[in-house]
Amino acid sequence: MELDTDFARRLFPAPCWKTAFFENAGGSYVPRSVIDRTVAYMTECQVQPHWPFASSRLATERIAAGHTLMAAMLNAEEDEITISQSTRGNFYVLANALRPLMSPGDEIIVTNLDHESNIGFWRRLADVGVVVKEWRVNKETAELEIAGLERLLTDRTRLVCVVQCSNITGAINDIPRIAKIVHDAGAWICVDGVAYAAHRLIDVKAWDVDFYAVSLYKLFGPHISVLYCKRERLDEAVNQNTPFRGDRRRKLNPGDPSHELTPAIVGIGDYFDALYRHHFKQPENDFRARLAALFRLIARHEQGLAARFVDYIGNEPAIHLVGPLTADPARRAPTFSFTVKGRRSAEIPPILAAENIAIASGNFGVFRLIPAVGIDRDDGVVRASMAHYNTLDEVDRLIAGFGRVV
Ligand SMILES: Cc1ncc(COP(=O)(O)O)c(C=O)c1O
Repeated sequence: MELDTDFARRLFPAPCWKTAFFENAGGSYVPRSVIDRTVAYMTECQVQPHWPFASSRLATERIAAGHTLMAAMLNAEEDEITISQSTRGNFYVLANALRPLMSPGDEIIVTNLDHESNIGFWRRLADVGVVVKEWRVNKETAELEIAGLERLLTDRTRLVCVVQCSNITGAINDIPRIAKIVHDAGAWICVDGVAYAAHRLIDVKAWDVDFYAVSLYKLFGPHISVLYCKRERLDEAVNQNTPFRGDRRRKLNPGDPSHELTPAIVGIGDYFDALYRHHFKQPENDFRARLAALFRLIARHEQGLAARFVDYIGNEPAIHLVGPLTADPARRAPTFSFTVKGRRSAEIPPILAAENIAIASGNFGVFRLIPAVGIDRDDGVVRASMAHYNTLDEVDRLIAGFGRVV
C-alpha cells in the first residue's frame, strides 16, 4: 500500500500547496484539524480552566485531552510530560532542575552534532564544576560513532545529551543502543527528538531514555514543545515552578502550558486518525497501533522521496552532501543539507523561491557541526527537508531547480 498524498494534502489549507515546500525541518505545515481545535478553544472557552462553570469545565477538559494525547504519542505516563513553550525552554529548565544534583567533577557528554538547545544549557553546568566533554562526529561522514562515546564515558559520567535525528544531516542515531550503553555506565540520557518526530514513531519507554523533547511545530502541530522526563528522574529534579506548584506535571514548567495551543494537540491525533481510516479499512482501537501502522507507511513514502533525491545528488559532482548518501529509512530521515561548488549557500534559496520552491540556508542552530565539517558557519549549508505530504513531482521540481542553479 502507498501513502495517498492527495488525500493527506486535502487535510491542509489549500494555499499550502502553491509552493513545493521543503523547509519541513524548520517547521512543518499544520492540518486544518489543528487550526480548528485552536479556533474552537478560543471561541468556546474564553475563560480560565479549573472552575466549576461550564465554559471553564470545557477548557479544563480540552487542555487535559491535549496532554493525554501527547503522552500517548510519546508512550509516556501523563505525569511524565511537561508541555511548554519550546524545546530550548524545556532544556533550559531541565538543566536548571538537574544542576543541584551535580557535584564538582561530575561529567556530562554533549555532541557537536546537536542543535545548540541540547548543548548550550548543559555546558553552563561547568559553572558548578561539572566537566563537559564533547562527543564529536567523524569529520568525513559527519556521523557520531559509538566508539567515540565509549571512549568518553567514565564512572563520573552523569548525563549524555544526544540528538536522535540531525536537523542538518538527517542521520538517525541508534538511541536504544546508545541508551543501553549510557545506562550501563551508570549515567542518564537526554535526547533531542525534534527532527525525528515527524518521520518515525516515538517510544520513550521502549528506548528507555531519561529525558526526551519534541517541538510540536515540527510535528504538524502548534508552536509549543513537550518534554518527557522519566518518573524517577522527575521526582529527583528540583522544582522550577513557584513553591506550591512542585507536583510532577508542573515542576518543570515555571508557567502554564498554553491554554489555547495544548487543546490543539488533539488535532494532530485527528489528522493521523483521518490518515489511518483512509488507508486501513480495519478499525483499530489502540491509538499507538494506528500510529505504528501509519508511520510504517510514512517511512516507506519518505524513502521513495529520499531515493529520488539521493540519486540526483550522488550523480551531481557540484553538490557536496553533508551526511549519509542513502535513502535507507533506518539510517536517515529525508532531510538533506549540502553546499554547491562556486556558490554561497545564501544565494540559492532566493533563486528557488522565485520558482515557488521553498528551501533555506544557514546553520540552523547547529553552530558546532558546520565548522567541524569544514563549512563556513555564517554561510552554512543549503537544506531541503521533506515530509510525508511531499510528492515525487515536487522532488523533481526541486531537482530541476538545482539543475539550473548548478
Ligand atoms: C533538532 C532541533 N532541536 C531543537 C530545536 C529547537 O526547538 P525550539 O524552537 O522548540 O526551541 C530545533 C529547531 O530548529 C531543532 O531543529
